[in-house]
Amino acid sequence: MQRILIDADTGIDDSIAILYALKSKKILVEGITTCFGNSGAAQSADNCLRLIQLSGLSREVPVVIGAECSLDGEYASAPAHIHGENGIGNVILSESSQTPLKEDAADFIIRKANELEGDLVIVTTGRLTNLARALEKDPKLPRKVKKLVTMGGCLQVPGNVSPFAEANIAGDARAANQVFCAGFHMVLVGLDVTMKTFITSHDLENLERYCSAESRPCVEYIRKALNFYFEFHRQSEGMMGRCVVHDPLAMLIAEDGTLGEYAMIRACVEYEALAYKGMIVTDHRFNSEMEQDEIAACIRVDSDKAVRRLFSVFQ
Ligand code: RIB
Ligand code: CA
Repeated sequence: MQRILIDADTGIDDSIAILYALKSKKILVEGITTCFGNSGAAQSADNCLRLIQLSGLSREVPVVIGAECSLDGEYASAPAHIHGENGIGNVILSESSQTPLKEDAADFIIRKANELEGDLVIVTTGRLTNLARALEKDPKLPRKVKKLVTMGGCLQVPGNVSPFAEANIAGDARAANQVFCAGFHMVLVGLDVTMKTFITSHDLENLERYCSAESRPCVEYIRKALNFYFEFHRQSEGMMGRCVVHDPLAMLIAEDGTLGEYAMIRACVEYEALAYKGMIVTDHRFNSEMEQDEIAACIRVDSDKAVRRLFSVFQ
């Protein structure tokens, strides 16, 4: 059982990762902190609360509103053309009776790490701002958590917000650099693998045909939200009836690392030179002068198995 704290900018793909985590028998969601990105942090938290209710979980999962802008005070407007006005493809889910916890997101992360005594896995599917703020407050945090799995970055493939950078890393490059250098047992699930993993309309048809009665509300939501996401992929990438799989892949790998193959890298993130902001810079020297822990960058993934497993929790 993986005890997971999710940090998300709850857009369409984040929402599917969250539903998967809530449904999986191998994951216990300890809490969710939110961050600006696909929508504002407050909207992301509201989305999380509605998703928790939709999942039918009988217990409350704490949700904490986190950073509304980067460490440098920046926030580009939410990409409504990708994730809709509300971050979840304009799908309206029932309002939740639960409200966000009134705790600072960085404090919540530190508290959970302390409470779980080395057993906490953090999965980030948005900017790394909350985690960087937690690190500022507790530099020993990396040694207190079991693992950090981050959806973000690109190594051997082009970026999606610039030739060199991916959205979650570029969205707060300074925070990302702090986290990369902090000494977490970090697994990076970036565009190198997420852009090669697809959900198709055929997968959706099968999901609708074989889902359990109990999961039907979740599946109905997934169908509507993914249809919005498919349309973005059609317009931007020419993909018809399919989309790539970013955040759910990070969640699946957090649950079961054997889905991927990894290269160990020493890396930092460029945050000053504007043209290269968010670019991951790796040091391949044999005798590295960088006194830094290595990061496991996912370079290959069993995509078929990942997508099958993703939807298996709704059967
Ligand atoms: O670049 C893809 C990432 O950016 C995903 O996490 C998506 O949800 C957005 O946050
Ligand atoms: Ca995300």
